[in-house]
Amino acid sequence: MFETLQPAPADKILALIGLYRADTRPGKVDLGVGVYKDRDGRTPVMRAVREAEKRLLAGQDTKTYLGLAGDTGFNAAMIKLAFGDKADLSRIRAAQAPGGSGALRLVAELLQRSRPGATVWLSDPTWPNHLPVMRAAGLQVREYPYFDAASGAVRFNDMLAGLKTANSGDVVLLHGCCHNPTGANLDAAQWAKVADVLLERGLLPFVDIAYQGFGEGLDADAAGLRLLAEKVPEMVVASSCSKNFAVYRDRVGAAMIMAKDGTQADVAMSQMLAAARALYSMPPDHGAAAVRMVLEDADLKKDWESELEEMRLRMLRLRVAFAEALRRQSNSDRFDFVASHRGMFSRLGLTEAQVERLRTEHAVYMVGDSRINVAGLPEDGMDELAKAIVSVLD
Ligand code: LMR
Repeated sequence: MFETLQPAPADKILALIGLYRADTRPGKVDLGVGVYKDRDGRTPVMRAVREAEKRLLAGQDTKTYLGLAGDTGFNAAMIKLAFGDKADLSRIRAAQAPGGSGALRLVAELLQRSRPGATVWLSDPTWPNHLPVMRAAGLQVREYPYFDAASGAVRFNDMLAGLKTANSGDVVLLHGCCHNPTGANLDAAQWAKVADVLLERGLLPFVDIAYQGFGEGLDADAAGLRLLAEKVPEMVVASSCSKNFAVYRDRVGAAMIMAKDGTQADVAMSQMLAAARALYSMPPDHGAAAVRMVLEDADLKKDWESELEEMRLRMLRLRVAFAEALRRQSNSDRFDFVASHRGMFSRLGLTEAQVERLRTEHAVYMVGDSRINVAGLPEDGMDELAKAIVSVLD
């Protein structure tokens, strides 16, 4: 059976975890996989989540099945977190999913059931796993221009021009906030223009919101999604709790549908749940139950929000300090964009060879496209790091 197989290429982001762990050099720097880290390089369980887990352990008296949609209280809380208080709940549905990737796949399966072989437009560049997830569901993939490596900004006019070539019924995947891998995001006016083009061309927005709370704040990060929800008749959303609740390995996410009316929403939801049944049946409960408890309890929610805000502000400070160090070491403003980007990532604009040299010569790990995880920046070693980066530039 297996003699026909060739080894699968390693995932470029996840492969870094093993490489970094195996590196014995002191002072190694991990700017690779998108996991939040504190000053000491640890990824702690958040206080409110830990408390919720304690309560779960004490109070949970059964582990019987919940059903294909998972925890319905979690789903309602996730709709509120993404769509806000003003959402038209009569036509929005959500299914708990195994992480953000699971949510993306569930939505992709729904799209495939609605319009087999539909085209999904991805930003160029985008998170590398978007492509295989869409293709695995049977969807076609095309790209719209997004990022200008030279300036570190969004190529907004090119993006709009690209979207205007899409056909009615195509799907446009948008990063709700904290664009991965670039850190360059749309502002409110740009979201409004994107919404106009989606409407004009009859395109379905598919919002991937995996970093809510890491950019400008919990509500501000959902502003683009909420603006779309006011303007367009239908949309789909994949959200993740991996980062903002730090429940990475517990696999917690939600796949959401906003349909034209409640009847269509119910039908679409039934198809999405049928897809879930064939993929994995029911999602894992523990992490979602903890998240639900945090979101439903006023004190736990407040504590979670304040810890999340501390993480966000720390990443902002690191951005500024890193941009300043790069300015000092390079005597140029080439990397100033790092300070204005938002979210967990920025893409520095280095070549693969330069990234490789950073790893082999300086024990600095980042994704091959020069994406850095801002949370991994060494607070006390910014100038050393900036110096290493400048040393590989030519
Ligand atoms: C990342 O982009 O680094 C994270 O989302 C982890 C992953 O699964 O790729």
